[in-house]
Amino acid sequence: MDRINQLLDAAETRSSDLAATISAIGFDSVAELLFQEIRFRARIDEVAGAGYADTTLVLVHEGHKAEFTVPAAPDGGPGGDLPSVVITQEVGEIVRSLYGPRDLVSAATRTVRWPGAEVAQRELARNPLPDRWAGPPQRILDVLDRRDQLDLGRLAAYYGTDKWGPLHQYTRRYEQHLSPWRDRRVTILEIGVGGYDDPQDGGESLRMWKHYFPRAIVCGVDIVDKRALAEPRMPIFQADQSDRDSLLAVIDEIGRPDVIIDDGSHISAHVIASFEALFPYLRHDGLYFVEDLQTALWPFIFGGNEDDLTSQDHTFGFLKQLVDGLHYEEFMGDSRAAAPTDREVTALHVYHNLAVIEKGTNAEGSPGADAFRTLMNSQSRDDTA
Ligand SMILES: C[S@@+](CC[C@H](N)C(=O)[O-])C[C@H]1O[C@@H](n2cnc3c(N)ncnc32)[C@H](O)[C@@H]1O
Repeated sequence: MDRINQLLDAAETRSSDLAATISAIGFDSVAELLFQEIRFRARIDEVAGAGYADTTLVLVHEGHKAEFTVPAAPDGGPGGDLPSVVITQEVGEIVRSLYGPRDLVSAATRTVRWPGAEVAQRELARNPLPDRWAGPPQRILDVLDRRDQLDLGRLAAYYGTDKWGPLHQYTRRYEQHLSPWRDRRVTILEIGVGGYDDPQDGGESLRMWKHYFPRAIVCGVDIVDKRALAEPRMPIFQADQSDRDSLLAVIDEIGRPDVIIDDGSHISAHVIASFEALFPYLRHDGLYFVEDLQTALWPFIFGGNEDDLTSQDHTFGFLKQLVDGLHYEEFMGDSRAAAPTDREVTALHVYHNLAVIEKGTNAEGSPGADAFRTLMNSQSRDDTA
């Protein structure tokens, strides 16, 4: 994670500082990280083996050179008698294009060499454009130019998370809240990697977030050890969401998140414990999502109930008291005790089965309540006199 963080930092620095970072990390390591990132964002596995020529990406930097080839043939062998399509670009420029703010994307050092004209013409005559080349080369160029902007619903379907589909319709809500952050350098923490007891299974939503936020670090937490699924920009930790200390150990590693998503056990006590442990560490202006609220009602598996929907031990009751807390400055009497979140929760959005809690400074004051309190005090003085 350190090397990726270094590259994310360096993407916004002067050319000489960026070059120094590349040397410090080592050209080969940087090239390998960039190849992995490009393969991931280009969803290369989807198009590899179905082209008419191999595609070779060549990275160059201060006399160094590294290349990787996406094979045209399904078995990974050479792609017929056409030479490779060769895309060459300078490493520093690619670092900026992949990890920098969008306005730093550039292709000044790039060349794209298509197969020799004669062979290409012969092949083109047999297989007319446009589908002929719409495979790996175009996908790679889309990534390098940051044109790979699929929406969350498509990404959810592609990576196989149930955040969109027959079970849940969360992605449009996430998009509503998170699309302005898409190009920001954010830290996302999701509780619940997926795959339950199988340490090799899961990671679908983490990959969706990683793709959607090209500059983000997307951290996964699961009670089962899922660290084998970690990828660059996608560290995974083992922690029990009902155990404050194990969650705070994760925060120690990753720093304050900008976005927290609770898609873990969905047991009310765990949802509340995680919120109480993590919300104080959410960045100012951050967002805290709680998925699958309905499970708080379901006795099966989730230990839910409908006995008292205002109970502070029930996810529904817990969320409702946040609404009260939003108005802490307006209360006239002592009907409620102050909560630590009162001054930090600035908005609550509740959708079908999904809650979003905004963090900020909730201290607008209340001239109306102040005036009524003064009136009440003077009335009670009059009554006593
Ligand atoms: C619904 S799945 C997560 C799905 C994933 N977020 C996605 O959208 O693709 C729930 C995960 O939460 C994990 N989990 C269950 N109890 C937990 C706990 N107490 N702490 C952390 N993770 C837990 C399970 O092991 C499981 O992998």
